[in-house]
Amino acid sequence: MERIWAIDAMDKIDSTIKLSGWVNTRRNMGKIVFIDLRDRSGLVQVVFVPQKLDKTTQESIKKLRPEFVIEVEGIVQKRPKDQINEKLATGEIEVLVKRLTILNPSKTPPFEIDNETLQANEELRLQYRYLDLRHERMRQNVVLRHKIIIFIRNYLDKAGFLEIETPILTKGTPEGAREFVVPSRLYPGEFYVLPQSPQQFKQLLMVAGMDKYFQIARCFRDEDTRGDRQPEFTQLDIEMSFIDQNDILNLVETLTIALVKEVTPQKKITTIPFPRIPYKDVIKKYGTDKPDLRKGKNDVDELAFCFIVDFPLFKYSETEKKIVSVHHPFTAPQEKDIPLLFGMTKGSGMTKGEILAQQYDFVCNGFEIAGGSIRIYRRELQEKIFEILELTSDEIKKRFGHLLEAFEYGAPPHGGIAFGLDRLVMNLANEPNIREIIPFPKTADAKDLMMEAPSELPKSQLEEVHIEIKRKPRAK
Ligand code: AMO
Repeated sequence: MERIWAIDAMDKIDSTIKLSGWVNTRRNMGKIVFIDLRDRSGLVQVVFVPQKLDKTTQESIKKLRPEFVIEVEGIVQKRPKDQINEKLATGEIEVLVKRLTILNPSKTPPFEIDNETLQANEELRLQYRYLDLRHERMRQNVVLRHKIIIFIRNYLDKAGFLEIETPILTKGTPEGAREFVVPSRLYPGEFYVLPQSPQQFKQLLMVAGMDKYFQIARCFRDEDTRGDRQPEFTQLDIEMSFIDQNDILNLVETLTIALVKEVTPQKKITTIPFPRIPYKDVIKKYGTDKPDLRKGKNDVDELAFCFIVDFPLFKYSETEKKIVSVHHPFTAPQEKDIPLLFGMTKGSGMTKGEILAQQYDFVCNGFEIAGGSIRIYRRELQEKIFEILELTSDEIKKRFGHLLEAFEYGAPPHGGIAFGLDRLVMNLANEPNIREIIPFPKTADAKDLMMEAPSELPKSQLEEVHIEIKRKPRAK
């Protein structure tokens, strides 16, 4: 007999079915034993009347404990009216078991799967993430993430976008964070860098004529982890040619409205069209460029989206003691400000906000969900920006020579945006931090507690990649 999911038992009243899953809870009522059986579709009550079953099955029933993996065959029955459980999707039925097989026993889990796991110690949850993910809320988050990704893929496919993968082993591309590096075995002393984003590749795909690109892209940034930040995270990365800022914002707006309607129809969007607020005004009015525009701050189903536009192109960095890009150095200035820019020289002091960028952020309930810009596509303007950012001509050549050269082979005007997919899912799932919607996240101090990463490597493996450890590994 083919196994079915618990939820599908609803349409099988009076038939014999086979279910496989985990013992969620067990209740002994004297002559009857009730088990809530859990599978990916949820819970269903299965009923054992031991006296009516053979001796071996009776013995097996006695052994059942939470998280045992079992297979049962039985008849689906409607529950009497007074025994319907409205909290359960399958609450109108139960399965009267005829045959039971214990497929695998389980040790007592370190926390109760049946209870709200948010209350369990987070380190323990992350160490045993495969158990944590068995919890209903976590399962729903995994399902929601899947639905969001599938929706976006289909939506963008229909809109003529191509999904294109770009390398993970690559060269650095500036997004303002430290980079993770990977030593090369074949080239002693040389390194690959993990991408902070596919930024340069997506621009080069525009030069290649791909026109409309997207990718569900893994990004890596060696920065301090926070509630809405992970060293490894996922972007919905988008780039288009022959467009302007409005085209990108309109795409983001229609995609977002359609997505919310499809995957979280219970949610209400505060204002449509999404407000587009200049940076200067948002700072003046709210003191932040990530305003929370919800009308009822306690309404979990309210989504207040807005765009922040007209960011300054540069800012002064106190840590680096020099001018840096507000977004990244590939962002185009506003056309009207280009003459001003060519008037700037290194150290000219013209920095703060005088030159505006064709840059935009997309904000939801006080979180920056996405950011992007229209790009520079002419060599001389890009070189000017690098010069203002105090890169030497040698550095420019080494780090960005390939991009500058590409601009000389017919680069089209282009621009794009990248969503922090995890932050988007977090907002749609009403979760307080992105660790709840990433299946296998890192801790706040960047560790994978389940796999125990980072970890030391055997000397032989280090030698292969020409690495010698000078400092002793940290004490455990
Ligand atoms: P940016 O650096 O603004 O732009 O990143 C885009 C979006 O990615 C999310 N994000 C993060 N999410 C989780 N953890 C992190 N450490 C993290 N860092 C960023 C945010 C942010 O809005 N290449 C450009 C995009 C472009 O210009 O098209 C870029 O990466 O939600």
